[in-house]
Amino acid sequence: MHEIIQQLERKREQARLGGGQKRIDAQHNKGKLTARERIELLLDDGTFEEWDMFKEHRCVDFGMADNKVPSDGVVTGYGTINGRMVFVFSQDFTVFGGALSEAHAEKICKIMDKAMQVGAPVIGLNDSGGARIQEGVAALGGYAEVFQRNVMASGVIPQISLIMGPCAGGAVYSPAMTDFIFMVKDTSYMFVTGPEVVKTVTHEEVTAEELGGATTHTTKSGVADLAFENDVDALLMLRRFFNYLPLNNREKPPIRPTADPAERLDHSLDTLVPDNANKPYDIKELIIKTVDDADFFELQPDHAKNIVIGFGRMEGQTVGIVANQPMVLAGCLDIKSSIKAARFVRFCDAYNIPIITFVDVPGFMPGTAQEYSGIIKHGAKLLYAYAECTVPKITLITRKAYGGAYDVMASKHLRGDVNFAWPSAEIAVMGPKGAVEIIFREEKNNPFKVAAREQEYKAKFANPFVAGARGFIDDVIQPHETRKRICRSLVMLRNKAISNPWRKHGNIPL
Ligand code: COA
Repeated sequence: MHEIIQQLERKREQARLGGGQKRIDAQHNKGKLTARERIELLLDDGTFEEWDMFKEHRCVDFGMADNKVPSDGVVTGYGTINGRMVFVFSQDFTVFGGALSEAHAEKICKIMDKAMQVGAPVIGLNDSGGARIQEGVAALGGYAEVFQRNVMASGVIPQISLIMGPCAGGAVYSPAMTDFIFMVKDTSYMFVTGPEVVKTVTHEEVTAEELGGATTHTTKSGVADLAFENDVDALLMLRRFFNYLPLNNREKPPIRPTADPAERLDHSLDTLVPDNANKPYDIKELIIKTVDDADFFELQPDHAKNIVIGFGRMEGQTVGIVANQPMVLAGCLDIKSSIKAARFVRFCDAYNIPIITFVDVPGFMPGTAQEYSGIIKHGAKLLYAYAECTVPKITLITRKAYGGAYDVMASKHLRGDVNFAWPSAEIAVMGPKGAVEIIFREEKNNPFKVAAREQEYKAKFANPFVAGARGFIDDVIQPHETRKRICRSLVMLRNKAISNPWRKHGNIPL
């Protein structure tokens, strides 16, 4: 018996060594942790239950029959983050470059299936050279098995990808279907085809970092939600992020006790909106001053900055925040910002997270670039997402709510539950200048008349009371009492239950 136990320990030791000390050293020399070190940092101490440590590939071609490494390039199992269950797979670059074989894929599928059954999120730590080249179609089949599960799990359990090394070719499409993608700066990249292929096909010279590094995907493409400095930073931030999420779509979001009073007033908000309607201000100041403990976890902060999205808490409960940002493009909605916010709204809706929307939007972005690229279709995504969603929706118009963008931003008409406005709100088809130029065109050469007409228009529409008179705004509130009024609304909405008509699925404009 003693001998068998020792044998087990030896086998485990061998598996833990992955591709061997030399390759582990190489991984460390690149500033990267190994697959197992990453799991240790991510999960609560001593909670990791590993599965399939002894699993091996079944490939016999290209000398692979004698080249087997237990675990086959991916460490899988479950554990807890701050006491809450999570499944995890961590690709081991020291074993065949973390390349995905059929067996490797089976391990990932096994934990995904179990996660679905028990209702716990899946976190993937990606560090892989892609499909295991020696296996050919068996490896490709393995990818597709994972993709299918990603899709089935979408909207059922949260799925998070952390890209910590290469992620190229078909490999990108599993993270692409998860809810959030985080990357590590300088050591990770994602692309469909690498720099060599790009050079051959399009004659562009581009480095891997330029093509698909963390900066590219968090600024230009918007593929990734956040970039972190290194492995340790990324894993610790992922733990923080995880605390906001419910474990599955049947749960309410978790509650973290707070000492921040729900009735807290903030008088500095009374002067946040400048007197001049064309002067910008930072909407993040409002967010920070409204949520518990000034703690706001922003997503995609460097992409489509004209809209701000992220998680905060109100009276301890997770809320999703969507806010136009007057500091960038005057807060206009364009293609990128519509897509960014739409996907976030849909995530919140899928996981019972109330949505708070702060509105200061002068309209949709004009121009051929936007029209030719399909602003109609992409702007419609945000409209569709807000209209479809059934979680509590609280909207506050701080200043401009013009045109179709007024409708889109969680208006009363899209089943907004509580719609507030500050006294500085202006709710109209367009700004006074543009409006007067159109409806009083014949007076355009008379500056006195134009000024008088603008004043008339402002008096009529540049306030929240016309909308209030129709019941489109439930109340006009003092800026300093924003937190209090939102907290009360959330309590009132705690047991909100509405549902959409039965359908196989809607047909959101894609
Ligand atoms: N299948 C099988 N083995 C792979 C692999 C793959 N897709 N990708 C990498 N490996 C192996 C390498 O043979 C090497 O093995 P070794 O340690 O026994 O020498 C090991 O993983 C590390 O790869 P290496 O190329 O030395 O690392 P690198 O950091 O210099 O480069 C990549 C990493 C991912 C850029 C490079 O390995 C690569 O281009 N891989 C192929 C990517 C690809 O085309 N995948 C298929 C498309 S999905």
